[in-house]
Amino acid sequence: MTVLPVAELENLRVQAEQDLAQVTDDAALEAWRIRYLSRGQGRITAAVEALRSIAADQRREYGQAVNALKRAVEEQFTARREALARRRIEDTVQRGRIDVTLPGRPKPLGRLHPTTQTLRDMIAAFQELGFNVAEGPEVEWDWYNFSKLRIPPDHPARDMWDTFWVDVEHEGERPMLLRTHTSPNQIRVMERQEPPVRVLVPGRCYRFEATDATHEWMLTQVELLAVDEGISLADLKGTLDHFAKRMFGPDRQVMLHHSYFPFVEPGVEVAVDCFLCRGDGCRTCKGSGWIEILGAGMVHPEALEGVGYDSRRYTGFAAGIGVERIAMLRHGIDDIREFYRNDIRFLEQF
Ligand code: DAH
Repeated sequence: MTVLPVAELENLRVQAEQDLAQVTDDAALEAWRIRYLSRGQGRITAAVEALRSIAADQRREYGQAVNALKRAVEEQFTARREALARRRIEDTVQRGRIDVTLPGRPKPLGRLHPTTQTLRDMIAAFQELGFNVAEGPEVEWDWYNFSKLRIPPDHPARDMWDTFWVDVEHEGERPMLLRTHTSPNQIRVMERQEPPVRVLVPGRCYRFEATDATHEWMLTQVELLAVDEGISLADLKGTLDHFAKRMFGPDRQVMLHHSYFPFVEPGVEVAVDCFLCRGDGCRTCKGSGWIEILGAGMVHPEALEGVGYDSRRYTGFAAGIGVERIAMLRHGIDDIREFYRNDIRFLEQF
């Protein structure tokens, strides 16, 4: 091992310091440490170990110089290591800095389906008049959906509703279907309670038909039923007048004209004056100034008798309202198929 004279130690110090000044990261610092201070390979370590082979008379001077060198360089190494660590923390803080003035990111919120929104408004409008909500099954007996509503098997009126029949296990059992309307609940409600009745039955209905802009195979209806002593067509009209004003604005008027449904007599179609053109005639009202919104009528005496009500004492009215139809009119939607396409761009508008 070469013995370094004291003058050489000074060169070593200058070199070590210059190299250390170049160090900018931990890897380079470690390489520097190995080059100068490590056991075995380090140049300064070697200079210290050289002390042993130095002549006794020079040992003191060399020893002091080499130890001073080692201490000075070690101090600089420590200082450099701490400086690097501090810079690393500062970098991290700087990179992760939060700008509290930036606008927040809005969380996308869900919303009620347009059919549900309109249904809830409809329910509220009738609840104000004292109607209570009831429900009935979507898979229904032929009996309730048709026969009890004065539409017996083979009666041509069944053609008014294209039906999804349900295959029942045992042939000859009572036939089942997906209800084509909410009207079976007129019977179900009357069977389980005595008058007075004021009930509102919302629910999904199914029709076996080709879809187009105004027909879907699934739709939502609200059935309305009131039975009591002395109920007349005027009560029906007053109730629907309130409904039309709540849905389409306080100036609205309703018009009843004759129609046919087997379970009511008389049966009526109900129209509201066009809230877009106010009667002048436009595309929505097809130029007539009036828009059909629902079917209704006075509950047929035979339907009342069929559930054991005394039709000489009690009368009633019923109505069936398509919820999608009302929602389409309120929002200017021109295709009923939009409701259940699940296109988020459509749904987000409501
Ligand atoms: N259930 C009928 C349909 O879906 C609508 C209807 C008409 C309901 C007259 C009624 C009513 O309660 O009185 O076509």
